[in-house]
Amino acid sequence: MSKDFQSLSLRNPICYFMMSALNKIPVVLVGVTSGLGYSIAKALVANSKLCVTLFTRSSEANPLLEPLIKGGATIKQVDYTSIDTLTSALRGIHTVISTISPADLTPTRNLLKAVIAAGVKRFVPSEFAYGEETNAEFDVYNNKKELWEEVRASGLEYTAFRNGIFLDYFAAGASVKYEEAPLRIFPALLDIGAEKNELPRTGEEKITFTSVRDIGEFVSAAILLEKWPEELGMAGETTTLNQIVRDAEEIVGRKFEVTYVPTEELRKRADELGATGDTMGKTRCQIGAALGEGRGEIKPYLNEVTDVKPIGVKEFLKKYWGTRA
Ligand SMILES: NC(=O)c1ccc[n+]([C@@H]2O[C@H](COP(=O)([O-])OP(=O)(O)OC[C@H]3O[C@@H](n4cnc5c(N)ncnc54)[C@H](OP(=O)(O)O)[C@@H]3O)[C@@H](O)[C@H]2O)c1
Repeated sequence: MSKDFQSLSLRNPICYFMMSALNKIPVVLVGVTSGLGYSIAKALVANSKLCVTLFTRSSEANPLLEPLIKGGATIKQVDYTSIDTLTSALRGIHTVISTISPADLTPTRNLLKAVIAAGVKRFVPSEFAYGEETNAEFDVYNNKKELWEEVRASGLEYTAFRNGIFLDYFAAGASVKYEEAPLRIFPALLDIGAEKNELPRTGEEKITFTSVRDIGEFVSAAILLEKWPEELGMAGETTTLNQIVRDAEEIVGRKFEVTYVPTEELRKRADELGATGDTMGKTRCQIGAALGEGRGEIKPYLNEVTDVKPIGVKEFLKKYWGTRA
């Protein structure tokens, strides 16, 4: 056991017991009930080298949490308005991973203050998307940019997990029910069940897709790395939308009608939708434009340094769309 883990564990009695007996790293995952958080929680709990505590606004009675509790996780129902209680709950913890959505920064800001006060070593802000420059183009991620300045100034060891777009969105509308995680899925970039699709620019630009299940596996494996670079990229697969259309056509057994939209047009639409208050529509167009400009590819560092074998796009499509009615 490293000195870091020893000194931290002395401040957290439950983890001290677990760690001295089993040599485990004390980890907190913040935000559990959404699809991404839930998938990461499942992978952490399955990792015998970790002592896992889950911070949630839910009580232990939430049936979603039952398998995680059975798997050995400790549930902490937390109040993000109290930095003091967050700090005591974080004493002795080595790594904190947040999945909290960036819509409201207050809970994460309080969490960061508590992380620093409790002497936590590593902190992961909720990122889980594209590269920093690409994210900077999406207004919905403005809060992420603001938070990064505070994280970088904190003196903590940190990283940004980057995974591209959730592969799971390709399950939207499939006859095979999506049960991988409690994730809100909707067609993104390509609607497999639709008659017609509009794709950004030429459809030949490289885009990275990773399933939330595999993101969980990569995150869990990354905790065991001795040193963290500032970014930890991963990829289920990096491919093009045209290739996915060809694969989907083969799998569902029909031709897709596809038209291509220039990125200037997508940016114009984003402004128009933004002016009507349609934030979701605006974000989709902003994402389409950035990916159309070829900025959707993630360097898959974690694929190289871990044993995770992620599902690729075609295999995922076959799983959900391969059974013809
Ligand atoms: N790459 C992609 O395709 C993609 C797609 C979607 C999201 N993302 C990214 O993934 C991350 C998670 O996004 P998400 O949409 O899954 O977020 P979310 O569901 O809104 O929130 C994630 C978790 O945070 C907790 N939470 C939510 N609101 C909170 C609040 N106001 N105060 C405290 N806790 C709160 C909840 O956990 P409890 O209920 O357990 O407390 C929730 O399960 C974000 O960084 C987002 O940008 C990426």
